[in-house]
Amino acid sequence: MSKSTHSPEIARITKVLTRLEKQSELERSGKLKLLHDDMMLAITPDTGRFLNILISAMNCTKILEVGTSVGYSTLCMALAFKQIQLLQRDFSGNIITIEKSNSKIQQAMNNFNEAGVEKNIQIVEGDALNILKKLNEKLNSRLNNDHKLFDFVFLDADKENLKEYFDLALSLLKKGGIIMTDNILFPEDYKTAMSEYLEYVKVNSKVYSVTVPIGYGEEIIYKIKD
Ligand SMILES: C[S@@+](CC[C@H](N)C(=O)[O-])C[C@H]1O[C@@H](n2cnc3c(N)ncnc32)[C@H](O)[C@@H]1O
Repeated sequence: MSKSTHSPEIARITKVLTRLEKQSELERSGKLKLLHDDMMLAITPDTGRFLNILISAMNCTKILEVGTSVGYSTLCMALAFKQIQLLQRDFSGNIITIEKSNSKIQQAMNNFNEAGVEKNIQIVEGDALNILKKLNEKLNSRLNNDHKLFDFVFLDADKENLKEYFDLALSLLKKGGIIMTDNILFPEDYKTAMSEYLEYVKVNSKVYSVTVPIGYGEEIIYKIKD
């Protein structure tokens, strides 16, 4: 995510992304040894760019992320908001991102402040399943709830509850929106969970999807009907 730009706002986000990419590379290569719970476990830089392009091309204004970690993927999406703003001055976007680890939330907040995008991002602390259920209850309790729906959902937390996350995310997603799911192809440990997930998604008539072999493998799930 290192393309040069004349926008100081974009340069500010890119600087943080570059630092996080270096940290992530040390983690991946094993040069930086951390306990699993302290690892960033971020998407790869090419996946970040893919995510950024999708958000920009779709002109997304409302995004939901499950699994913030220290905010690398969130920043790739927030960068898209600033890029859209260069074309549409009055554009504004918002990301709700869910994370259970308080120490990662503290790091994410520092990263968002340093990048100058804290106003566009709301971090919700807690268990993703509970929070997604609450978001659904909130949506269902409103009569005119169209404006509450998300354009894009990124699923990147635990894999145990992935099918439930998908169902809950799908009802929060507007028609024409996308649910992107990470780790479809790697690591190998997720192979069984992910093939069960794909079977589950493929039989749902409200969506169709494709696996994109970038980074750890991304499922791009397109909602075609309510
Ligand atoms: C793979 S990392 C997310 C990486 C991030 N999306 C990125 O690319 O920069 C997964 C994160 O999900 C969080 N997580 C795992 N299970 C969760 C749950 N049930 N509820 C909320 N967060 C969870 C973990 O603490 C971890 O920080």
